[in-house]
Amino acid sequence: METQSSIPFLLRISSIHVGILRSDFLYDHSMRITFMGYINGRMRGNVRIIFLCVVSVNFGVGRAAMVMFRREFGIVVMMDILEVACLILVTGAAGYIGSHTCVSLLEAGFDIVAIDNFANSKPEALSRVQEITGKTFSIHSVDMLDAKALDAVFAEENMEAVIHFAGLKAVGESVAQPLRYYENNLVSTINLCKSMKKHHVNKIVFSSSATVYGAQEQVPLREDMPIAPVNPYGQTKAMIEQILRDIAVADDQFGAALLRYFNPVGAHGSGRIGEDPQGIPNNLVPYVAQVAVGKRAELTVHGGDYDTPDGTGIRDYIHVMDLAEGHVKALSWVLNHTGAEAFNLGTGKGSSVLEVVHAFEQASGVRIPYHIGPRRPGDAARSFADPSKAQQVLGWRATKTLDDMCADTWKWQKQNPNGYGE
Ligand SMILES: NC(=O)c1ccc[n+]([C@@H]2O[C@H](COP(=O)([O-])OP(=O)(O)OC[C@H]3O[C@@H](n4cnc5c(N)ncnc54)[C@H](O)[C@@H]3O)[C@@H](O)[C@H]2O)c1
Repeated sequence: METQSSIPFLLRISSIHVGILRSDFLYDHSMRITFMGYINGRMRGNVRIIFLCVVSVNFGVGRAAMVMFRREFGIVVMMDILEVACLILVTGAAGYIGSHTCVSLLEAGFDIVAIDNFANSKPEALSRVQEITGKTFSIHSVDMLDAKALDAVFAEENMEAVIHFAGLKAVGESVAQPLRYYENNLVSTINLCKSMKKHHVNKIVFSSSATVYGAQEQVPLREDMPIAPVNPYGQTKAMIEQILRDIAVADDQFGAALLRYFNPVGAHGSGRIGEDPQGIPNNLVPYVAQVAVGKRAELTVHGGDYDTPDGTGIRDYIHVMDLAEGHVKALSWVLNHTGAEAFNLGTGKGSSVLEVVHAFEQASGVRIPYHIGPRRPGDAARSFADPSKAQQVLGWRATKTLDDMCADTWKWQKQNPNGYGE
């Protein structure tokens, strides 16, 4: 399989200058044609490319040809090239992973268009993305269930690719409200794919999840293992993966990177953006952070009798900025490839619940009270990724440690005890 690809930019020629140079030299060869191309830098903005073509004609006969008088004509072509960044549609951009990925995309030189219906996020997150990066972008407050409104964004903006984060993500809620999950996650994706087809946008990076593997006991989890989701949320992810695979079969120009995230935690190092769960957090680290900041009394650990060193469940936690970088790599890959490929985005290393609690205590200097409760149905003892495919194909690997994840979560939580506020 091919490996990593560079980030493409669109190049537009804004002006061309042509000139003729003439100079006299002494040379010891009879005829020479030189073609040289200089590329002056590869910065955004105006780039000047100079091509210098030198035609040399030597005059001389017999012995005189050894050292002779030479005429040299040069044709210089200068092109001012406007380097225009690829425009990427980011759906669910104001959400936790979306907002961090927007930062990485902008810093990597992509331009973005953001869509969100703010069902589980606040516009403030996007204001802070602009603050962190010093870059602006257009924001569309659109519910992707509204096919017409979504299509109007495609008609207005000229995107090269889509990163599709938008979706509902709470496993327990999906069990209680399956229809809402199937409708929101599937219909919004179908609307998206229809608009992509209509507007000839054929590259997508999709937020899938390790949830598609179900409660498999075999670890590490590899992309070629059979998938077996055990709840409606996981089913929507598996179904969307299948939809994208089917489109890739039908359309040989279509490319999809199906990113199976493990357990994203942490926040941007500035402490300005982070995870802002509505109500009681569903995930361990935001819950621990809220206990540390005094918003919740104590943590319930779901199961202390698993077959693991300390009896608590083991998961693969990944820093959200590592995950964001994974999207930049996946986007660069998908822009240069066709077909649909799944990639695990995890560290390949598992941490137990109690290891996370202790790392968070270290990072925050705050003791986290907890008690061990019963196991949750459907939870596996261990779940962690084999991330080697993403390493080999995308050239991506996670670099941040559990301590980094806890330190950055704590910074965000301390600076923003009420998240983005009202
Ligand atoms: N956070 C995780 O632990 C995790 C793990 C695996 C996969 N994922 C997936 O990654 C994606 C992003 O997750 P996140 O943690 O950032 O979630 P999030 O809830 O913070 O972000 C999702 C965003 O999508 C928006 N949205 C939902 N339905 C929409 C619709 N119909 N139209 C427009 N916007 C809509 C929400 O308002 C929210 O801003 C989701 O698809 C999620 O399922 C998340």
